[in-house]
Formats: sequence, C-alpha cells, structure tokens
Amino acid sequence: MGKITIAVDGYSSCGKSTLSGDLARALGYSYIDTGAMYRAVTLHCMEQGIISPEKFSVESIIAELPKIKLEFHFSEDAGKSEIYLDGKNVENAIRSMKVASLVSKVSAVHEVRVTMVNLQREMGKKGGMVMDGRDIGTTVFPYAELKIFMTADVNVRIQRRKLEMETKGLHVTEEEVRNNIIQRDKDDTQRKESPLRKADDALVLDNSNLTRVQQLELALSWAKERM
Ligand code: DC
Repeated sequence: MGKITIAVDGYSSCGKSTLSGDLARALGYSYIDTGAMYRAVTLHCMEQGIISPEKFSVESIIAELPKIKLEFHFSEDAGKSEIYLDGKNVENAIRSMKVASLVSKVSAVHEVRVTMVNLQREMGKKGGMVMDGRDIGTTVFPYAELKIFMTADVNVRIQRRKLEMETKGLHVTEEEVRNNIIQRDKDDTQRKESPLRKADDALVLDNSNLTRVQQLELALSWAKERM
C-alpha cells in the first residue's frame, strides 16, 4: 500500500497528539507534533530573556530564529518522537502554563511561521507522515491525501488538558486551563497569518463522546480508503 501524508488540525486539547501518535504507530509512519515546535521556540526565547509576560520584542525573536536548533528523536519508552531544543529533551518543559500563555503570540509572528513550515515540509517530504497542528491541511501540506479536523466539547477539552498536566507533575487550576484554552482558540482562529480553519476537504472528527480506540478506528478507516 502506498504511503500517504495525514494532516491533523484542530483546536487546543482536542486530543490531536493522541490520535496522531496512535495513527502513526498503527501505520508504521512518523509523527511530528508541530505545536511542540512553536512551544520550543517560545521556551528558547523565554530562557534567553527575550520574551516574558511583560515584554515581547518581535525583532529579537526574529534575530534569535537562526540560533534555535530543533530536532525530534524517537523515544522507545514514550513510543513516539520527542522534541529536543538545542540538544536537550524539552518534551515536559514546553508544556508549562508559562509557555502556553506566550506561545500563541510567538506563533503569530510571520518569520517564525515561515521557518517552522519550511522545517515541517522538509521532515514530511517523503510521505508516511502524520503531522498535527493548526495549519497542516491548509498551509503545510495542502495536498495531503487525508486531512482530519478535530474538535470536542470545551469542557471535555479542559478536563483532558488538566489531567495531562497533572500526569506530568504540573499543577494548575481548572480556571487557569479554561482561560488558556479559550484565549488560544481565539488567538489561533483570529490571527492574520495561517489562522486555524478547517480545510475544505478535511473530515471532521468530534471526539467528545468517542474513546481513544473508537477515534483511532474511524481515522484508520479513512486512511485505508486513501492508500
Ligand atoms: O498543539 P499545541 O497546543 O501544543 O500548540 C501550541 C500553540 O502553537 C497553539 O496555541 C498554536 C500554535 N500552533 C500553530 O500556530 N501552528 C501549528 N501548526 C501548531 C501549533
């Protein structure tokens, strides 16, 4: 069977990474979490003191971009690729509330997007790839054979993100998670540059009432139809 490209887009905390990782494992494909790339750029700029809740210099972020080294390495333990920033595994560090509160602003910077999209296209050029994010089906791989647009009830998404953070030892209140998710939905859908939107040919997967196994079965049936 031919190897296809699968683009998974959708709102924050809809379970895009879970589905994409499961799909990649089931098909023997690679999986790239593009949100992790924008988060790692944000973390790098925070660590360099370029951005904080009080200051945000677009010029300094742009000047920093060539110095940022991003890589994905497959982790046998996690069963998926994990992101490395400047040689260090930052898979947990990029999930903090601090990073989450600045990442939408960083990802709205044109030069940041161009740099990330180029890297993503390079990583996916051979096919056999599941990539998740906000603009994969619309901008990164507009010719992907399968495009999935994920959505879920906001309360379900809040509980999932809170649980994910707690599992990683990061303590947050429901209020903090709710505010962050609502703000990011707004930022991601309303920004000028590649806003989050469903590609015309994307299939909608609302997983509010689906189990992990059920959503995988549905997505696999779509993938197999397209191989
Ligand atoms: O998927 P995530 O929540 O980890 O993504 C973090 C942020 O990165 C999200 O608020 C918007 C941005 N993002 C983006 O603009 N484009 C992508 N392809 C992926 C993420």
